Amino acid sequence: MALLRLRKKQHLVFLLCVWCLVVDWSKAETEESEGSPMEKTEKDALYSTIQGFVGDSWNGSNLYPDPCGWTPIQGVTCDMYNDLWYVTALSFGTFRENSLACAEIPVIRPQLFELKHLKSLSFYNCFTSPNRYLASIADEKWLNLSKNLETLEIRSNPGLIGELPSFITNLTNLQSLVVLENRLTGSLPENLAKLTRLRRLVLAGNRFTGRIPEVYGLVGLLILDLSRNFLSGSLPLSIGGLNSLLKLDLGNNYLEGKLPRELQSLKNLTLLDLRNNKFSGGLIKEIQEMSSLVELVLSNNHLGEDLTGIEWRNMKNLVVLDLSNTRLKGEIPWSILELKKLRFLGLSNNNLRGKLIREMETEMPCLNALYVNENNISGELEFSKKFYERMGRRLGVWGNPNLCYHGDEIKNLRDHVPFGVKQCERVKDVTLA
Ligand SMILES: *[C@@H]1O[C@H](CO)[C@@H](O)[C@H](O)[C@H]1NC(C)=O
Ligand SMILES: *[C@@H]1O[C@H](CO)[C@@H](O)[C@H](O)[C@H]1NC(C)=O
Ligand SMILES: *[C@@H]1O[C@H](CO)[C@@H](O)[C@H](O)[C@H]1NC(C)=O
Ligand SMILES: *[C@@H]1O[C@H](CO)[C@@H](O)[C@H](O)[C@H]1NC(C)=O
Ligand SMILES: *[C@@H]1O[C@H](CO)[C@@H](O)[C@H](O)[C@H]1NC(C)=O
Repeated sequence: MALLRLRKKQHLVFLLCVWCLVVDWSKAETEESEGSPMEKTEKDALYSTIQGFVGDSWNGSNLYPDPCGWTPIQGVTCDMYNDLWYVTALSFGTFRENSLACAEIPVIRPQLFELKHLKSLSFYNCFTSPNRYLASIADEKWLNLSKNLETLEIRSNPGLIGELPSFITNLTNLQSLVVLENRLTGSLPENLAKLTRLRRLVLAGNRFTGRIPEVYGLVGLLILDLSRNFLSGSLPLSIGGLNSLLKLDLGNNYLEGKLPRELQSLKNLTLLDLRNNKFSGGLIKEIQEMSSLVELVLSNNHLGEDLTGIEWRNMKNLVVLDLSNTRLKGEIPWSILELKKLRFLGLSNNNLRGKLIREMETEMPCLNALYVNENNISGELEFSKKFYERMGRRLGVWGNPNLCYHGDEIKNLRDHVPFGVKQCERVKDVTLA
């Protein structure tokens, strides 16, 4: 009897559950057919914006009736504000395989500027046909985005020419401005420092000319990359005020003058890359104050002077030190052995003389690339067989006419004979006679 009652109870529970499921399911269906709540103006603005970029044949309302809900569009991100969905991020161009490819001649439609919660906008490989201008849109329209826009990324658009549009400096909430590998020209805006919230500023790989503007006030900046342009003049002293900076890459420009002493304030800097410029005036002592540096790349500059002015032991974090072709003179100092984490030491194409310190083998345990080729290093290479094995082809010693190696150590290891260096001659009995 008790058992039967239990059965009945179970049956009832079961029925209730089925009913719940049915109700739940039908509720979900109505929600689905209504779509995620979204203003019609927002939805239409989104469709029209995308159509401008992708081409007229793209019919959003057909393909993606519920763009923030059940039929999301690649490259579109939405978020909810007051129970309504809004577009917060838009990304165009072939970034991933299934992202929205741009039409041959993409058009920035005015509807873009009606997306009032847009935080992130990016164009990747989008403006590819020649002679496209970003500045074809009136600046006032961009101001509509300035309240919310935090990220603007314009990347790998080989057709994009003209100057950096002036509206950029009015987008005062930007945290990330990436204008990378396009064909933009002209000088950088003087008032770049108005963008005080910037954490990342990348303008690399364009054709910008002129000086680097003052950067006072960008105290939150973590990454500054202006490499691969035609920038000239000296570094602004205000660069020392970028206290938070982690990476500074100004390589491949026409920058000149002495490295500013103000660099010493960049206590958190891990990368300083100034390669391929025209800096002069030697390695300033203040460099040693940047004790967080992991990579210091100054190759191909006109620095001059020698390596003795620096307390290398203050730079214990260095992993990469590249001073190739920087007109260095003098000897390689013993203090360089303090760089215990160093893996790459590039000193090639200088006027260094003296011996190559044998203790590099033991005192710099991580070292696995050493280039001192094209100098005037002399004497005998006294490394062990093990060291030659460890370095392999990453030992560059050629182009030092007065250098030789000891054959006894490595005579059975033809592969590891240091390239371009002759074997030392045996001590001549004749001289003893
Ligand atoms: C998209 O398709 C719908 C119905 O198929 C049509 O009414 C609408 O005009 C089309 N929109 C565009 C922009 O072509
Ligand atoms: C700016 O935004 C407002 C409301 O978000 C909109 O009504 C207006 O048309 C926009 N202006 C431009 C130039 O797009
Ligand atoms: C935009 O920036 C320019 C130059 O800094 C400034 O003159 C102008 O007033 C700004 N416009 C607005 C609406 O903030
Ligand atoms: C430098 O880094 C340390 C540790 O990450 C951090 O606490 C400090 O705030 C940073 N300094 C600046 C000026 O950002
Ligand atoms: C290279 O060094 C040797 C001494 O080891 C010196 O006699 C010679 O003049 C130097 N050559 C150059 C080009 O500086």
